[in-house]
Amino acid sequence: MDIRLLHPSDIPHVQQTNITNLPENYFCKYYMYHALSWPQLSYVAVDVSRPKKSPYDAPKIVGYVLAKMEEDPIDGVQHGHITSLSVMRTHRRLGLAEKLMRQSQRAMFETYKAVYVSLHVRVSNIAALALYRDTLGFTVGGTEAKYYADGEDAYSMRMDLDYLREEALDAEDSDQEDTVGQDEGGEVGSAGKAGEGADAKQKERKRKVKVGRQLGVQELVENNASSQQAKANGAS
Ligand SMILES: CC(C)(COP(=O)(O)OP(=O)(O)OC[C@H]1O[C@@H](n2cnc3c(N)ncnc32)[C@H](O)[C@@H]1OP(=O)(O)O)[C@@H](O)C(=O)NCCC(=O)NCCS
Repeated sequence: MDIRLLHPSDIPHVQQTNITNLPENYFCKYYMYHALSWPQLSYVAVDVSRPKKSPYDAPKIVGYVLAKMEEDPIDGVQHGHITSLSVMRTHRRLGLAEKLMRQSQRAMFETYKAVYVSLHVRVSNIAALALYRDTLGFTVGGTEAKYYADGEDAYSMRMDLDYLREEALDAEDSDQEDTVGQDEGGEVGSAGKAGEGADAKQKERKRKVKVGRQLGVQELVENNASSQQAKANGAS
């Protein structure tokens, strides 16, 4: 099984997987909008067990996560949002949804400095609730009445991405320790002390760079109408 970024050419196959698994379906342009605006955030699970017979064979997409950054967060905090997630029945309970979610969450943090990730889930969706709450660590923030087109309520859930920030800082610290461990020379007069100060500055600077750079996603958003339409259809 291969988990990789969603390419625009995957969209018809992802759309097919979505229609098979969920009642919340979207126009092709809404998938395209995700893939072009936040190309780092959406992933597909591809069954590569059967080799392609020709280069024109379609990839066998058995799961996907469609994700985006919230464009105008009400709370003013930069965060990601899971628009849709599903895995084909034939490939469930293999850990695919968990992996897709973790990949997307990491990309939200590393690329856009997302502080947390949010989503909606049907209150009756036992499998998804178990995945989000018990496996991944999301918490329920509230219930949105009649969120879905058929009148079912949704839990609005979120998960802080602090653990990724801590992981990045830990990795920084161990890199720094490795570098210091290799340096056998001690401080030499005032030049040595100045060097220490420079080291501290360097450490500080490296931490800032680590979380990645923000792309100008706001400028790319020209199709808010499709997002409104998906919400009206009951986005997950
Ligand atoms: C929800 C869904 C995406 C889970 O996909 P999956 O690949 O089977 O999930 P994973 O294998 O990664 O499961 C991870 C954990 O989630 C929980 N989980 C998944 N399916 C579950 C089920 N049917 N019942 C209870 N817990 C379940 C388990 O804790 C599981 O860990 P375990 O297998 O070690 O017990 C899949 O069932 C699905 O596509 N459902 C239909 C579409 C849908 O509801 N999407 C979510 C919309 S918000």
